[in-house]
Amino acid sequence: MLINEQACGISQEILGEGAKTALVLKKGLKKAAVFVSGGGTNLQALIDKQGTVITSGKIALVISNKPDAFALERARRAGIESVYIPYDKAAPSGFETAAERLLAERNIDVIVLAGFMAILGADFVEKYDKRIINVHPSLIPSFCGKGFYGLRVHEAALSYGVKLTGATVHYVNAVADGGEIILQKAVEILEGDTPEILQKRVMEQAEWELLPRALETVFRTIGEPD
Ligand code: GAR
Repeated sequence: MLINEQACGISQEILGEGAKTALVLKKGLKKAAVFVSGGGTNLQALIDKQGTVITSGKIALVISNKPDAFALERARRAGIESVYIPYDKAAPSGFETAAERLLAERNIDVIVLAGFMAILGADFVEKYDKRIINVHPSLIPSFCGKGFYGLRVHEAALSYGVKLTGATVHYVNAVADGGEIILQKAVEILEGDTPEILQKRVMEQAEWELLPRALETVFRTIGEPD
């Protein structure tokens, strides 16, 4: 579904208090929205771990900034609402406004960035303090920040010559890859690794394990009374 104000038919009432009220705590199961841009193997790991590792909430919505992301297909196959929202680098607030409306309408508690290859603005991120998490394919603070995404991260690790890399799940704040770390796991670099081989090992040994665990941790944290 291509989203715009008419297509999604979201009423103004739910936006009344602005997006700060968008992620309202509710009793019972929490809801996560997963932002994606590509293949969606991390989304798949989240879907597959529902009911086992993830027990305090569910994946209720998938939003892609790319119309042809295979992650959208993975969501459809799992019966999860999936939405494409166009992202214009020159005017990112269009994506953010449409996303905020949908998140509010669906009562989403937590946003998971799982291979989401766009930068969210400080205003957006600050509205969802400690409610957005991201998976990054290195041991932060190495090989992270602006320009480090996807295969580039692994290329940088290999060209530096580190012997260990890994993955990190962290809260998202206004600094790229700078939010508080939730979980990390190291992965060995082996003789003959290419960026593609290393990416696969980091996903298999670290990302797909950490992300579901981190989401469950966040679901439980926001469920606790202050
Ligand atoms: C994953 O390795 C993820 O950690 C990385 O992109 C890949 C997406 O794969 N994310 C970043 O580099 C963000 N800075 P997926 O679409 O198969 O989950």
